[in-house]
Amino acid sequence: MKKIAAEFVKDQYRSGVENYSAFTTEVGLWDSEKYVFQKYLKSTDSILDLGCGTGRTTFHLHQLGYQDIIGVDLTPEMIDRAQELNHHFKTHIDFREGDALNLEFAEETFQAAVFSFNGLMSIPDQKNRNKALMEINRVLTDSGTFIFTTHDREVAPEFFEFWKEEEQRWKSGNQDPLLFEFGDVVASSKNESRDIFIHIPNQNEVQNFLVSHCFELIETFYRSEKFEESPAVKAKSGECRFWIAQKKGSDLTRGSG
Ligand SMILES: C[S@@+](CC[C@H](N)C(=O)[O-])C[C@H]1O[C@@H](n2cnc3c(N)ncnc32)[C@H](O)[C@@H]1O
Repeated sequence: MKKIAAEFVKDQYRSGVENYSAFTTEVGLWDSEKYVFQKYLKSTDSILDLGCGTGRTTFHLHQLGYQDIIGVDLTPEMIDRAQELNHHFKTHIDFREGDALNLEFAEETFQAAVFSFNGLMSIPDQKNRNKALMEINRVLTDSGTFIFTTHDREVAPEFFEFWKEEEQRWKSGNQDPLLFEFGDVVASSKNESRDIFIHIPNQNEVQNFLVSHCFELIETFYRSEKFEESPAVKAKSGECRFWIAQKKGSDLTRGSG
């Protein structure tokens, strides 16, 4: 049986365009995102918003004063909608179709990169996520900041039993043959009408992932540890863990707060 591929990911997000568009125009940034962005991004930073979707974080970062920002997304329909929303927000943000695994930008183009709302973990296969992180590292300047979120399979007690059973399935070779590694799931989503692929790591895995790609972990927190998001945010997004990392060999004091 064929494993999950990039085409599956595009299809899953195609079905979510209306939903992401409403999230972009009606809700905007989560309180947790606002906190992290304002803490770690300087208003003069050149920012790559990777997996920008319909531009939820892009437009609202722009409104916060981050003017040097580009949005890139794999799914053409997301980019089409983001470009249309430039009229709604009266902006001229550069939105481009592109794949995190093969970015069109030169080395050290951006001082910061953002991959919000668990987008990095919607890339199937650890090999591909490694490629994406190498690309992000390549296009960041020395001391550049990378901000992203993931789910965390070791936090939510309601899923402990599922993960125990899933671990057994992988150990005995009875896992879903569509999947690549333990932590992968194909599940229903709040935002897409079809099932979505997502990799759900634990903290250890993400820490190793960052270190092995020359990033230093600066801060991580589970969203609900610090923020009670609005019902509108919670209705469209589940719990997640924030990760703030910096390209290694860098000055750790560059954040504004
Ligand atoms: C959960 S959505 C988040 C969209 C937007 N950042 C937001 O917060 O509303 C994840 C996005 O990542 C994009 N994506 C997935 N794999 C990608 C890749 N390899 N390169 C670029 N974008 C990708 C999807 O097309 C989708 O729009």
